[in-house]
Amino acid sequence: MNAEGRTRLDQMPEWQALAKHREELGDTHLRTLFAEDPDRGRRYALRVGDLYLDYSKHLVTDETLRLLRELARATGVTRLRDAMFRGEKINVTEHRAVLHTALRTPESATVSVDGENVVPKVHAVLRKMAVFADKVREGHWTGHTGKRIRTVVNIGIGGSDLGPAMAYEALRPYTRRDMQFRFVSNVDGADLHEAVRDLDPAETLFIVASKTFTTIETITNAKAARSWLLDGLGADESAVARHFVAVSTNAAKVAEFGIDTDNMFAFWDWVGGRYSYDSAIGLSLMAAIGPERFGEMLAGFHLVDEHFRTAPAEANAPLLLGLLGVWYGGFHGAQSHAVLPYSHYFSRFTAYLQQLDMESNGKSTDRAGHPVAWQTGPVVWGTPGTNGQHAYYQLLHQGTRMIPADLIGFAEPVAELGALRGQHDLLMANLFAQGQALAFGRTAEEVRAEGVPEEQVPHRTFPGNRPTTTILAEELTPSVLGQLVALYEHKVFVQGAVWDIDSFDQWGVELGKVLAKQIEPALTDGADVSGLDASTSALVERYRALRGR
Ligand code: F6P
Repeated sequence: MNAEGRTRLDQMPEWQALAKHREELGDTHLRTLFAEDPDRGRRYALRVGDLYLDYSKHLVTDETLRLLRELARATGVTRLRDAMFRGEKINVTEHRAVLHTALRTPESATVSVDGENVVPKVHAVLRKMAVFADKVREGHWTGHTGKRIRTVVNIGIGGSDLGPAMAYEALRPYTRRDMQFRFVSNVDGADLHEAVRDLDPAETLFIVASKTFTTIETITNAKAARSWLLDGLGADESAVARHFVAVSTNAAKVAEFGIDTDNMFAFWDWVGGRYSYDSAIGLSLMAAIGPERFGEMLAGFHLVDEHFRTAPAEANAPLLLGLLGVWYGGFHGAQSHAVLPYSHYFSRFTAYLQQLDMESNGKSTDRAGHPVAWQTGPVVWGTPGTNGQHAYYQLLHQGTRMIPADLIGFAEPVAELGALRGQHDLLMANLFAQGQALAFGRTAEEVRAEGVPEEQVPHRTFPGNRPTTTILAEELTPSVLGQLVALYEHKVFVQGAVWDIDSFDQWGVELGKVLAKQIEPALTDGADVSGLDASTSALVERYRALRGR
């Protein structure tokens, strides 16, 4: 029993029942499960808003799903979910509410944190963002020399970069094509250099996005961007106000940087960085797609929030996806999870999910501070199909590891593609084929029947039984993007709740930051390295020698 009075996960009868059930299932093949239930493809499917989820190709039976739901009940997933939506401080290590759902709630709703309804201020910021975004889009926001803004550069990192950058790519067909939107995150000067080298400072606007406004990468890049701007314009500090705006929870630091706080867009400590692109952190995205489309995206998020909050366990998509991950990590030894979108516009989607999932659930201490004895968050990875098929899918099909995967596709290609829309059926045929091959494989008998020489048969046999979820939507619209992101957000929530970890802190990123601060002086001013470990001090000495220091 932990300090919160919860029995350890692996000692719960519901967990043990799943372990027993796993043994009983043994190697039961998806071929058998489909043969036993011809309707499985339709029965194991859910509709949520515009999303169709096929989970029939999972190594589960009705009994598995029932036992998983029992585990969710026993671990208090619903209780924690309701506490989150109510604004309780479920981020226990930071004593914070977790209310990204309030960012997309209609204005008529009430969501209270410490007795204050936060919905009015969410909508006040959305309106301020809309006014600003429209001014930039329509050319009414002019730079220091009076020229209209042609390029918006978002400077941020982690949650202050990945969300807007991913959504910008995903929604490119909805963006103003006569403007450019760029995203700078890496403290490697090459990132900023490549982003601005062909730009006219007079037509460039920087959005400095940082929840804390203390993140070293972002502040370093923002300072460098300010120098680039002022040098390029030959102007003094007074030019900054027309070319820099900020998104932050920290007005004092924004003012200290020299950005007028009238040009600051606020959000709040109850929004986690990786859950923040539907807050003011999405300002660059709103400038790209416009307030109306941004509103459609928020409505998509809200639709899935409401589904997660109200749908019964048997039909609750985030609950189901979360529990399937628990099943594979806990009872099949799966270490990783592939997200394979069949959309070129989703080129950053998996990178976005990596932070969402791995920063949330990459934990090994339970909410009461004890080490956990079960697997928590998987390694999330993947790139858009079909490129991956010609690279790493070999391992998915015939490697020694089980890697559950999500295959995501859209029925309708974007209108703008014109004649290239004709290629879409081929793209989607590949998606469906991969799910099929991973699930059912190809037996030695089938290979032999094709006349394959005997010595090649083992090499050309596919074991199958590799689980996938297929998520199909009609079209990649702003609303559908919001629905998909909310689906994953709540999936991650469910898993954190079952695993009894705090999905909303990220202490694991701190040590590297502290050490980098200690090491930097040794690189630049030759400070003594004797306090460093033998490997790091040798590396620092080598680096200094290479730099002639
Ligand atoms: O260091 C990790 C982290 O705190 C992320 O959680 C966050 O999204 C990122 O850094 C950026 O933080 P900020 O928005 O405060 O600059």
